[in-house]
Amino acid sequence: MPAVEIRPDIHWVGVNDHTTDLFEGLWPISREGVSYNAYFINAGKKAIIDLAKSIKVDEFLDRLRELSDPQAIDYIVLNHMEPDHTGILKVLRDIAPSSTIVCSAKAKPMIEGFFGITDNVEIVEDGQTIDLGGKTLTFHMTPFVHWPETMMTYEENEKILFSCDGFGGYGALRGAIFDDEYADFGFYRQESLRYYANIVASFSAHVLRAIDRLADIPVEVIAPSHGLIWRENPSLIVDLYRKWAEYADNGGEQAVTLIYGSMYGNTETLMDAVFQGLSHSGVNVEAFDIARTHASYILPALWSNRGVLLGVPTYENRLFPPAAHLLDLAERKNMNNKLCGYFGSYGWAGGAVRELEKRIGPLRWELVESFAFRGGATREKCTQGKDFGLRFGRMILEST
Ligand SMILES: Cc1cc2nc3c(=O)[nH]c(=O)nc-3n(C[C@H](O)[C@H](O)[C@H](O)COP(=O)(O)O)c2cc1C
Ligand SMILES: [Fe+2]
Ligand SMILES: [Fe+2]
Repeated sequence: MPAVEIRPDIHWVGVNDHTTDLFEGLWPISREGVSYNAYFINAGKKAIIDLAKSIKVDEFLDRLRELSDPQAIDYIVLNHMEPDHTGILKVLRDIAPSSTIVCSAKAKPMIEGFFGITDNVEIVEDGQTIDLGGKTLTFHMTPFVHWPETMMTYEENEKILFSCDGFGGYGALRGAIFDDEYADFGFYRQESLRYYANIVASFSAHVLRAIDRLADIPVEVIAPSHGLIWRENPSLIVDLYRKWAEYADNGGEQAVTLIYGSMYGNTETLMDAVFQGLSHSGVNVEAFDIARTHASYILPALWSNRGVLLGVPTYENRLFPPAAHLLDLAERKNMNNKLCGYFGSYGWAGGAVRELEKRIGPLRWELVESFAFRGGATREKCTQGKDFGLRFGRMILEST
């Protein structure tokens, strides 16, 4: 994609990444891709805001050359030091050695640590401005959205907020960069939620703090460094981020994440019965086979739904291992305040429930009911399972 004008003299100069299979070396994006959005401001002084991962360097520079000689860049604004936005820094700095790197105080030692760069690094404080001549940048510290050094940059004349990871999402740009160019941005909504649950969730209190601090700034365009640029309805993505951040305290929506795994089919058979009860209750259910679904795709549901039903067998005195892994991720990401139910088969002494109880303590999940059964899912157990599902579904619908 060539450079795209956002507002007069402000262009998107990012790159799409369809090559990286795992974002952060962890989260699958091979089907969805991701974009690293960077922005070029061609004012009295020339500034670039955020860069990209160190792939497609040539493409990045060619895009910039459509608008300017990269050598002529005056300011390189780094909102965030994660290498998906700074990977090109060394190359660009070599091309434009007299450029000034603009960053927060916490970013400066990181620039030295990652790139060995110490010259011409200007620290900006919260609320400080840089007059580019015709365009004016104001910097807003937004620590921990995503790293401690993170800030956002606001351009006053055009009222654009360059929000970096904040308000971003997975999903490479599919031929257009703006929200209003997509008849249905359901894909980006879902991929923004997956990105939130994978990357941002742990920092939800900081997200709410940042949204509050930015509330009085008149923003017409939200230009994150991943995913769509929101110009028709910038408040939509802010409202979504606020809603998702609030799940940290309120536990999420009145819906159920049904997570199951089974080695020999006993727990699976019971899962069908539980699912039947859930469906009869009318509650919305998102179901996942835990051994066959990457946690990246389960976490959005786990984050969004107040109810969690875990149906997995006992394995070596403990939980079926992928369930333990998911609960570990949930704890790391502060996925707190859920109502939880357990069902699962065991052969001789069980043990899954014991581990579950231990793991959900720090998560502040309430285990409202558990149904561990020995061996096969008989018709009688399935009837019990169906009743269990019905009760659980109704309880979630009645929960506040
Ligand atoms: C590798 C493995 C480890 C197991 N460890 C235990 C255990 O420690 N305690 C126990 O009660 N049952 C244990 N079992 C038995 C299973 O929990 C039992 O077969 C159960 O019915 C499996 O449910 P599923 O058909 O849903 O996979 C183990 C089974 C396997 C295959
Ligand atoms: Fe980041
Ligand atoms: Fe990022």
